[in-house]
Amino acid sequence: MNVREAKQRIEVLKKEINLHRSNYHTYNTETISDSALDTLKHELANLEADYPQFITPDSPTQRVGGDVLDGFIKQEHTVPMMSLADVFNSDELRDWMQRNQKILGQSEGEIEYFAELKLDGLAVSVGYQDYQLTYGATRGNGVIGENVTHNVKTIHDIPLRLNALDVVQRDALNAVRPGWGTSLADRWDGTLEVRGEVYVRQSDFEQVNREMLQQHKSPFANTRNLAAGSLRQLDSSIAAERKLSFFAWALVTDLGQQSQYEEWCLLKVLGFPVVAETLRGYEVKDFEHFHQEMYNKRSRIDFAYDGVVIKVNHKDLQSQLGFIGKGPRFMIAYKFEAEEATTKIQDIQVQVGRTGKITPVAIMEPVHVYGVTVTQASLHNQDEIDRLGVRIGDTVVVRRAGDVIPEIVRVLPGLRVGRERKFQIPFQCPVCQTDLIQKEGQVNRMCPNLQCPARTMRHLTYFVSKQAFDIRGLSEKMLEKLENAGLVQNEEDILNLRYDDLRVLPGMGDVSAHNIVTAVQKAKHISFARFIQALGIPHIGEQTAKSLARNFDSIQSLMQATLDEFTSIDDIGDTVARSLVEYLEKQSNQEKIQKFFEAGGIIQYPQASSQVGFFCGKTVVITGSFEQYARPDLVRKIEQQGGKVSSSVSSQTDYLLAGTKAGSKLNKAKSLNVDILDEHTLQNVL
Ligand code: IVH
Repeated sequence: MNVREAKQRIEVLKKEINLHRSNYHTYNTETISDSALDTLKHELANLEADYPQFITPDSPTQRVGGDVLDGFIKQEHTVPMMSLADVFNSDELRDWMQRNQKILGQSEGEIEYFAELKLDGLAVSVGYQDYQLTYGATRGNGVIGENVTHNVKTIHDIPLRLNALDVVQRDALNAVRPGWGTSLADRWDGTLEVRGEVYVRQSDFEQVNREMLQQHKSPFANTRNLAAGSLRQLDSSIAAERKLSFFAWALVTDLGQQSQYEEWCLLKVLGFPVVAETLRGYEVKDFEHFHQEMYNKRSRIDFAYDGVVIKVNHKDLQSQLGFIGKGPRFMIAYKFEAEEATTKIQDIQVQVGRTGKITPVAIMEPVHVYGVTVTQASLHNQDEIDRLGVRIGDTVVVRRAGDVIPEIVRVLPGLRVGRERKFQIPFQCPVCQTDLIQKEGQVNRMCPNLQCPARTMRHLTYFVSKQAFDIRGLSEKMLEKLENAGLVQNEEDILNLRYDDLRVLPGMGDVSAHNIVTAVQKAKHISFARFIQALGIPHIGEQTAKSLARNFDSIQSLMQATLDEFTSIDDIGDTVARSLVEYLEKQSNQEKIQKFFEAGGIIQYPQASSQVGFFCGKTVVITGSFEQYARPDLVRKIEQQGGKVSSSVSSQTDYLLAGTKAGSKLNKAKSLNVDILDEHTLQNVL
């Protein structure tokens, strides 16, 4: 990127970020996910660091919060309400800790930190005089907020009157640090300012949305929108109905607290709810562990949090560290792995699949999404390219949750600079130049050439893949080598590979040749279901193959089945049945199956299927990760118990098996009232 391009990129980034921020902060509408906006902010901050000459006062990196709506009384904060810098991984956390060590002249492991949850709500400041609540204000733009005292008073978590420092409270504080409670009780007059988060519990959120729907009003997108929307109402009866909750995370007034931990204790003693999940520690690994643990706990906690906040514990160290830019240097938000991020499309390439299907694939600047670096995403077909309106050079939002394949969710057209190029899938196969066909009413363009080298190669790679014959050692590269050597042209050739032919190939050697031959021999014993799947019949995936294997007692009877026999099977519809008949009718395919037996192949048929067991006749969907089981084991176990595993949640689903890091499937299951089992329950069942 040259200077001119950097300047241009900084300008469009600022515009785009400001637009989304103002939508969110001022109008309570979310037009981009937090995590995608974070990527844009990160990119802007990095560019500004490289080109500081282009930093302007209106840059989103230079300010906090939104503007104040008309109608509220404005309230200037006694101390500005700032924001926090973010880190996303342990390396960035380590960098931050090392910076602290350097400034404070300490060595590794010497500084104590206090961590708590980063709540996903709305910051407010509440003031007390003579123990009585006197005001509540939103953050606003950080310097001036909106006075929302009338609404704050409806929040039951916020005490209208502070606990006085009677014996109990005094003793509690003296137990934290000897003498503290006694001396504070002697001098304090009940004046203070507390800051914290107004939020909505998940269960309350669901209830409010149910009511909204009953009244034919549009539901809230998330708990934070609901919290913000309710707190910023001129009529306090609305806030009262909305069940807002509160956690305190800071005491602005100096009441002798010497550390963040003491502050947390004092807030509790005075009557404020504080987050119970906290940690005091010294090292990166302590917080790495805490962060992971809190992430795993998300589905079990009734309020939203999007990371942990890590604070230098001791107040004197905090003041030595001071402030930088928009926030304190002594605190950091260690956010959870984002499910969405933004990146740029570098190119769109077309791939030719096994069946001839042409797939456009977006090649992207590497971007970290939910724990992995993503560089490619399928764009499926021309319709999808048109629907997204995606062009080469565009900035896009990429999403990946849990075990899900990354996808491009949308384009950010506001970031275009005029150099982006539209893309059309070609009309000829990029590999064999045959004219592509697109059937009436279908979205996919296909290469019809059965001899297309790309198709043949895809076929073979599928044939040896894990889903099919699972022949280890035969990578796509190796297959190409064997093809070039004239050894492999079709599946049959693979099954008949001979040690003597392999070992003389350049770069092969005895061991690799032996391994390949052994893998091939092993693969010749294959279960009925996997054999069906390995045929690569269009529309027949793992589930359908399994169901066919349950319903036919041999490959011979499968080959003789009629369309009606197929459609009479529970989960087989018209398209699948027709695809089966079409495939099995073809002489070339019948020969292929014959060749498998000629090469010494043996199909293993299942024992009588399980008619008993906890999951008998039930459809189960799995989401998230599990401590005790890998996915394939889980699937096997459920099937052994008579259940069927399906990939998406619908009204047909009987159980959702939810591990940690469960994503959207969990929400969907909840909304459909599907029974949810966790790992612990599952263990009991199994
Ligand atoms: S301490 C400088 N502790 O995060 C402000 N903030 O990005 C430091 N937040 O406006 C505040 N949970 O609304 C702190 N446990 C926590 C928090 C927390 C959520 C929010 C807060 C603040 C924003 C800063």
